[in-house]
Amino acid sequence: MITVNINQKTYHVDADPDTPLLWVLRDHIGLVGTKFGCGVAQCGACVVHLDGEAVRSCVTKLRRAEGKKVVTIEGLSPANNHPLQKAWLELDVSQCGYCQAGQIMSAAVLLKANKNPTDQDINDAMAGNICRCGTYLRIREAIHLAAQLQKKEGSGK
Ligand code: FES
Ligand code: FES
Repeated sequence: MITVNINQKTYHVDADPDTPLLWVLRDHIGLVGTKFGCGVAQCGACVVHLDGEAVRSCVTKLRRAEGKKVVTIEGLSPANNHPLQKAWLELDVSQCGYCQAGQIMSAAVLLKANKNPTDQDINDAMAGNICRCGTYLRIREAIHLAAQLQKKEGSGK
């Protein structure tokens, strides 16, 4: 039994410690917002936060999450109102949507560390997240918008 905190809830997971975290999230817990794309750390569809760091859950073993805090797209904000989620809606970023949870989770780590990223900062931080539909320009625009929204929220405006 491995104890993991996921989206602020404690779970005791009865699975092999070598099970990929993605399997646990989707098949054991039923959190299917995190997607399986390549399964070999190449596409970013499965990105979640592990103690605040962006990790690819398809290649992160359950044992690595033991006693740690995992956040998935379902837990990113209390009412799906993270500045990134607002910006994504505002700019209609998603196309098929498959890659988008991973994109947002990667962008959230960027925005936490860098409140005002440049195009280059965004390109660098998001380089590992592939979008087959080619929504890259809208993603970049939405991250800039989210940075502005975050600033406004931070200043109480
Ligand atoms: S499914 Fe994990 S990086 Fe592609
Ligand atoms: S929106 Fe379709 S893969 Fe990115």
